[in-house]
Amino acid sequence: MKIVSTAKELTAIREELKGSVGLVPTMGAMHNGHLSLIRQARIQNDTVIASIFVNPTQFLPHEDYEKYPRREEADLKICTLAGVDMVFMPTREEMYAKIEPEISAPKDLAYILEGSSRPGHFDGVLRVVLKLFNLTRPTNAYFGKKDAQQLYIIQNMVKTLFLNINIVPCDIVRESDGLALSSRNIFLDEKERVQALALSIALKNASQAIMKGERDAKKIELIMIESLQDLRVDYAKVLSRDFEAKEQIVIKETILLIAAFVGNTRLIDNLWI
Ligand code: PAJ
Repeated sequence: MKIVSTAKELTAIREELKGSVGLVPTMGAMHNGHLSLIRQARIQNDTVIASIFVNPTQFLPHEDYEKYPRREEADLKICTLAGVDMVFMPTREEMYAKIEPEISAPKDLAYILEGSSRPGHFDGVLRVVLKLFNLTRPTNAYFGKKDAQQLYIIQNMVKTLFLNINIVPCDIVRESDGLALSSRNIFLDEKERVQALALSIALKNASQAIMKGERDAKKIELIMIESLQDLRVDYAKVLSRDFEAKEQIVIKETILLIAAFVGNTRLIDNLWI
């Protein structure tokens, strides 16, 4: 497995690659969620590139950029075992110049939900993802449904900027008790780990009500909020899959989305209905 840290080196290697290239962008601290993306990429491509870069531009000034877990050695082991061909691990200076064009995510999509408590977050995501796309020119790029809004905003960028890249949405990987895997789960202490289950339970309660025939979006939102009782809820929303509010739930066109604080840790989860 090649480990590359400069854009120059990466571009030179990319020039020589034949066949399909699968890109898995990550911020490291890898878990089975990341691994499932890599596995899917391995099956579908001649070459698999994973990137590991804790992207400073997607963190707000008060957020956990400094504290974000960094586990390069363990990540590289995971990548080697999963059959990644090349890991791109740039420095901050390598990725960002002092002066460069601003990239803005569409306001309508990027300032709701995650973007409403993290304004500007998706500008940073698009900025780094576009750079990674330009450097690796992937055939396929793999993103988790765990970050449903991120996935949708990236799909929108690819479509509207006519990028010739196939975005592959990957299912959410969960612990056996339902907690969605996240690099931030390591911040949870024992008690919080139990409290964190409320997110997946809320989604389950809501989906059961929908299966029983409830279609009123507001009622489903209430069920989620009630199930999240002890947590500080950021949002618990029922939206269409193009992130618009709808009064009535339509099966196969809906996402339930939750963000809530467990102690100081902000967790997100969602369910595609
Ligand atoms: P990161 O949080 O490291 O996630 C990398 C990829 O793994 C994302 O596409 C995310 O949706 C996916 N992922 C995380 N947890 C998952 C789970 N439990 N099941 C399935 N997929 C999961 O998302 C980012 O990094 C960054 O914003 C990035 C796109 C790399 C840009 O910096």
